[in-house]
Amino acid sequence: MFAGSESGGAARRPPPASLGKVRIAVMKDREGSAPKGGTAEAARAACAPEEAPGGRLVEMRGIRKSFPGVQASDGVDLRLDRGEVLALLGENGAGKSTLMNILVGLYRADSGEILVRGERASIGSPRDASALGIGMVHQNFMLVDTMTVAENVVLGIRDLPFVPDMAAAKREILRLSECYNLKVDPDAYIWQLSVGEQQRVEILKLLYRKAEILVLDEPTAVLTPAESEELNAVVKRMKGEGKAAVFITHKMEEVMSFSDRVMVLRKGKVVAEKATSDTDPKDLARLMVGREILFRVEKGPFKPGAKVLELRGVSAIDERGLPALRGLDLEVRSGEILGIAGVAGNGQRELAEVVTGLRPVTAGSISINCVDTTGKSPLEIIKSGVAHIPQDRNQVGAVGDMSVASNLAMKGYRARPLSAGAILLPGKVRELAKRLIELFKIATPSPETRIKFLSGGNIQKAILAREIGACSSLLVAVYPSRGLDIGATESVRKELVAERDRGLAVLLVSEDIEELISVADTVAVLFEGRVMGLFPAAEADPEKIGALMAGMSERGEESTP
Ligand SMILES: Nc1ncnc2c1ncn2[C@@H]1O[C@H](COP(=O)(O)OP(=O)(O)OP(=O)(O)O)[C@@H](O)[C@H]1O
Ligand SMILES: [Mg+2]
Repeated sequence: MFAGSESGGAARRPPPASLGKVRIAVMKDREGSAPKGGTAEAARAACAPEEAPGGRLVEMRGIRKSFPGVQASDGVDLRLDRGEVLALLGENGAGKSTLMNILVGLYRADSGEILVRGERASIGSPRDASALGIGMVHQNFMLVDTMTVAENVVLGIRDLPFVPDMAAAKREILRLSECYNLKVDPDAYIWQLSVGEQQRVEILKLLYRKAEILVLDEPTAVLTPAESEELNAVVKRMKGEGKAAVFITHKMEEVMSFSDRVMVLRKGKVVAEKATSDTDPKDLARLMVGREILFRVEKGPFKPGAKVLELRGVSAIDERGLPALRGLDLEVRSGEILGIAGVAGNGQRELAEVVTGLRPVTAGSISINCVDTTGKSPLEIIKSGVAHIPQDRNQVGAVGDMSVASNLAMKGYRARPLSAGAILLPGKVRELAKRLIELFKIATPSPETRIKFLSGGNIQKAILAREIGACSSLLVAVYPSRGLDIGATESVRKELVAERDRGLAVLLVSEDIEELISVADTVAVLFEGRVMGLFPAAEADPEKIGALMAGMSERGEESTP
C-alpha cells in the first residue's frame, strides 16, 4: 500500500539545507502560505524530503534506574546517530521500555547523563523531550478515543494559540500523510480506526511535532504483515532525511529488515551490541535468552476426540454495524488445535467474541459440548469450561490497580480451592499465584505487586497463565504470542500443544503463518468474515495460506463478497 514512497522520495531529494531553514519553511506552511488549498496535490507538491546531515543525535551514559525490587537499568550506555535505526532487544522485563521512557522524560534516571546533539540535556517531561525533537510511540497507544485524528495530533502542543487553527493543522496533517504515505482521515474519530490506522496517527503526531529522534516501542506487535511493511517504508524515508529511530521489537525478521545496529539488554545491562549485518536471528535469540531457541514446536500425532465447539451459519456485525461474520461453519474437536489465519480485521476478533458470549450473533447457532450456547452470557460460557485470551489484553485482560495474585485468581475465585462459600481464601490465592508465576516465568517483584507495574510482556504472561489454568474444555486464544519475547513465545506454543494433548479443544487466532503451521492441526483462513479454505496443517504451505488471506479462492479466483 505504501510501497514506493522511499524511492520516489530519494529522486526528489534537494541539496542539504540547514535545520533552521527547514523549520522556517514549515512554520510558513502552518501559517497557511504553503501548501495552498489543502488538496492532496498541493500537499504532494510540498513534500520534498528534508536534509540528511550526519552526526551523533543521542548519547545516554551510565543510565541507572531502579524500581522497588528491580534494577531496571543498570548502567546503560546508548548512542544513536543520524540516519540510523537501532533495534533494542531483550526478554520481557529486560528494561527496554524503561530506558526509552527515561529518554522521553516519563521517568527520571537515578543517575547517568543524556546528551542530545552533543549537548547535555535535562529531560524532565515529555514536553522537554518534544522540544528536543524526541518522540515516542508507546507500547500502549496514548490517543483519546472520542477525539478526531486532527485533534489528537495537535493535543498537548505548548505554544499553540488559545484556539488551535484546526484548518491549518489539517492541511499539515494532509501534507505529512502524503509525504510519508500514512493515509488517514483527519476528521475520523480514533474509535473508528483500526489499530494500524491508530498507529499511523501516533506517527503523524510525532512528525507534526518535528521529531527527529523516534522511539517505536513494539510498533509492529499489533500490525499486520502488510502494515509492518508500510512502517518499514516510513522509517526508511525518515532515515534518508537524517532522522533516527530506536525500534523495540520481539520479531527477529523485523530486526533484520528494519535496523542498522542492534543492542541487546539483559536484566538492565547491555550484553551485546552489533551491526545488524554481523548477526542473524539465531544469534540474537541466544544473546537475549542465554540459551538456544528452537523455532519449531515438537508435536505428537493428531488424535481428535469428540466435537467440542460447533458453529453453524454464524453471522455477526462489528462496532460500526457492518457484517463481520457471514454464515460461518466451523468445528473444533477435543485434542485439536484449529488455527485461524487471516489479515487482522477479517472477523477474527468477532469470531472469538461470539464463541465466548461477548458479542451477540445475528444468525446461526453455536454449541459447546453439544449444549446450545447461542445467546448465553459470558459467565455461563466460562462455567462450561471456556477460557479466552483476548485481543485487547490491556483493556479487558487485566485490572492494573489489582495485584498480580488477584489478577491470576480472577477466573477461579468463585469456586474451591480459592474460596469456601462466600469467603475468599487469601492463602490459597497466594499459593495459586506463586505456582503460576513460577510455571509461566512471570517476572514480578512479588505476587502483591500491582500488575500495572510489570513490563508489557509480563502482564501478558499473567493473563495467559490465568486463562490456560482455568480452562477445562475450550481455549480461545487470540494472538497469544503477541508482545512476548522469543523464549516466552516458545513456552506458550509448547503450552498450547500440551493442552491439546490433555484433550482440550483450542481455537488459535494468529497472523503468524509459521506459528499456525507448526502449532495447529487444522487451519482455516478467514477473509471478510468467511472461511476461504480449511485444511490439515500438515498440507498447508505459507504461499497457499497467504493467497487465501488476500482473498484469492483455492482455485485462484478473487473472492466477491
Ligand atoms: N513504573 C514502574 N514501577 C515499578 N516497576 C516498574 C515500572 N516500570 C517498569 N518496572 C519494572 O522494570 C523492569 C523492566 O521493565 P520494562 O517495562 O522496561 O521491560 P521491557 O524490556 O520493556 O519488557 P517487555 O518486552 O515485556 O515490554 C520490569 O521488572 C518492570 O516490572
Ligand atoms: Mg516494554
